Amino acid sequence: MRARILTACVALAAAFAASTPALAEGDGLRMIPAPAHRLDDASLQRGARDFVNYCMGCHSAKYMRYNRLTEIGLTEDQIKNNLMFGDAKIGDTMTIAMSPVEAKGWFGNAPPDLSVIARVRGNEWLYNYLLGFYRDDKSATGWNNLVFHNVGMPHVLWQLQGTRVLKETEFEEYPKAVAAAIAARTLTSLEQAPGGKYVLTTLEMQTPGTMNEQEYGEFAADLVNYLDFIAEPAKNQRIRLGMLVVLFLGVLFILAYLTKRDYWSELH
Ligand code: HEC
Repeated sequence: MRARILTACVALAAAFAASTPALAEGDGLRMIPAPAHRLDDASLQRGARDFVNYCMGCHSAKYMRYNRLTEIGLTEDQIKNNLMFGDAKIGDTMTIAMSPVEAKGWFGNAPPDLSVIARVRGNEWLYNYLLGFYRDDKSATGWNNLVFHNVGMPHVLWQLQGTRVLKETEFEEYPKAVAAAIAARTLTSLEQAPGGKYVLTTLEMQTPGTMNEQEYGEFAADLVNYLDFIAEPAKNQRIRLGMLVVLFLGVLFILAYLTKRDYWSELH
């Protein structure tokens, strides 16, 4: 009986291994982790600067007040002189003048407010979204994105990253395609073509930008870090407080242990 169960298990496992999964669109996306650290104030400050310069033309962050940027180590003067334009006041939220209705006309979709986008999408998605733009002559803006198909946002950072185009490689067997996706070590998408073949999509450099791949990766990571921060600014205080509490408990443990040893030494 046991032997029979064992054979059945082995057969089941073999059948499982041999079956090649059918991939739907978007399923086979392999994203790379965002190298962002939310307690890194220098990175957050760069992220704030880049957000104001490159994103606030279209996106607001209406739940974030400028003066909360003091929490990432900036002084009010630095915020006023470098990050605020027009007649905005230090206690104001980070709103913009663009009207959503007009924007919808230009881009097909209005640029959403990015205050809590990191909670909706997560850091990994945001990071890969910023890496995932490529040239697409069929789209209205001339751009498309591997992570967000037919996105209405143009690649506003193309001068930094350079322009990329899709590169598709066909594989007969699923394991080989997966191995190639892992070996690529970048954002890839694996889909099943109608003929049963597997198509691995990566992005290939067409014209280089002013930054190399590593520099652009760090630039994107700073922005993601900042978006993560504004989605919940108080989290950094909680993490710091948590570390203090753990440290305090550690010291308390040592004291308690020493007291216990002292106490028992008299009884033995
Ligand atoms: C020229 C205007 C413009 C600029 C500048 C711009 N965006 Fe966008 N962005 C858009 C539009 C339009 C959309 C909506 C796309 C859609 O839904 O198809 C969008 C969407 C997004 C989304 C996806 C939101 C979602 O639906 O989950 C993110 C994230 C984002 N932008 C981040 C950024 C960041 C970060 C910057 C700065 C580096 C930036 N954007 C600069 C126009 C812009």
